[in-house]
Parts: sequence; structure tokens; C-alpha cells
Amino acid sequence: MNILFIGDIFGSAGRRIVREHIGHVRKAHGVDLTVVNVENAAGGFGVTPQIAEEIFELGADVLTTGNHVWDKRELIDYLNSATAEGRERARRVLRPANFAPGLPGYGVYEGTTESGVDYAVLNLQGRVFMSSTDDPFHAADALLADIKAKVILVDFHAEATSEKAAMGWYLDGRVTAVLGTHTHVPTADERILPGGTAYQTDVGMSGPYDSIIGVEKDLVLHKFLTGMPGKFEAAKGNPKMCAALVACDAATGRATAIQRIQLSE
Ligand SMILES: [Fe+2]
Repeated sequence: MNILFIGDIFGSAGRRIVREHIGHVRKAHGVDLTVVNVENAAGGFGVTPQIAEEIFELGADVLTTGNHVWDKRELIDYLNSATAEGRERARRVLRPANFAPGLPGYGVYEGTTESGVDYAVLNLQGRVFMSSTDDPFHAADALLADIKAKVILVDFHAEATSEKAAMGWYLDGRVTAVLGTHTHVPTADERILPGGTAYQTDVGMSGPYDSIIGVEKDLVLHKFLTGMPGKFEAAKGNPKMCAALVACDAATGRATAIQRIQLSE
């Protein structure tokens, strides 16, 4: 079984490069499950229901987010329109599971691929150098206790490489893949951990790389040089789609290969 996980779509340049590549990559690698992090897909800040629908149209099965999930208020109604047991698109847009209890949306989705394989996608957010949330490690334990599927993909949306590596080792042998998002810089450490979990600290963004992690570089430089506040805008130049392709045994959920993908225009 082949799983394609596409890193954080950033702004219109990110949406364009994903639109260009997602179809042929899915086809060439016989992808059974496609998961995309969309937390910066709307101009770099959050995601709208319309953009979520657009990414589903391109072939995504499940969308994940992170700290920017609440940036577009219209997404809240969309998330609230889903029911726990539903399989509609709104139910397949996740926000981190370790947010405060009772917030809109869900942090886990359990589904079945077209070929009949049960899977789960789990979205978690880190706590190091990020706004506070519940403990993602114990949240993972609690959620995994209820998941029946063998094929389980975790999007760990976190800043610190240490926290991400810790999550990889903590879940090794219990999930198919722990893939990092949020820093927007792909790391060259993709590997299969001894217990059979595919791991990459950060998949990297799908967005404009002539930028400072997606934002127009002059605006970020101005802030670093002056400390003055300013409005950030999504950059456009040099878009790349970054993704990880994970192969696994559908019966056991054990990963057998992970490949880093980076595609330009
Ligand atoms: Fe983020």
C-alpha cells in the first residue's frame, strides 16, 4: 500500500504547484491514500472551506492542519457541520487532536481506502516553542487505544526537531508513519525506524521557496531588522511541492519504504 503525504500547502503558489503535480505522482506510484496538510493554503493563513474542497477535488482523502487552523473563521462552521461518525469532506479536515476538549472539529479520521484497507490519520501539535496545548504524547496513547486500523499516519505539526524525533521513537512500531510539518523546511532524515514506523522530521512546505518559510522575504527581513510589526504576505517565487511517499504492508501497517519528493514547476 502506498501513502502520499504532501507538506504544508502555502498560499496560491503552493496550491498551484500541488495542482500541477499531485495527479501524476499519485498515478505513477499507485497511491492508495493521499493526505495533505493545508493549514497555510489560504494566503499563508489557515484554509477556507472552498480551498479544502478544491484540494479534495485534486484527489486528497484527508486534510490536516495545525496552529493556523482557526485563522479563517468560515472553517469553523465547516468543521462543525461534520459528525463524529461521518465520512463527508468536512469530517476529513482535521485539526490537532490535542487541543482543548470540545473545540470544533476532530483530530482523528478513520476511513477505508477504495481497495478496502482500513486506515486512520491522526493530527497532533507540538508544545515546544508553540502555543500551549495538551500533551501530544499522552493524547496519542489515548487515541491509538481506540483505533482499530493497522495503517495509521500521524502528522505531527511541531517546531522543535527534538520533539518530533521524540514522537517518532515514541510511536515506533505503533503507527505506520510519523511525518513532521510546520517548519516548512524539508529535512533529509527520512528513514524506517526499527519497529517499522516511517519517519521524517519535516516534510517541507508545498509553496514558494524564494521566500522566508513561505512569506515575502522583504517583509520578514524588515521585521528582523527593525522589530516593527508588519503585515505578512505569501510569496510567489520558485514554488515546489514537497511530500513523502510511504510504502507499507496493508495487513500489518508496518512501513517498508519512505521516499522524499520535491518537485518544481
Ligand atoms: Fe504551522
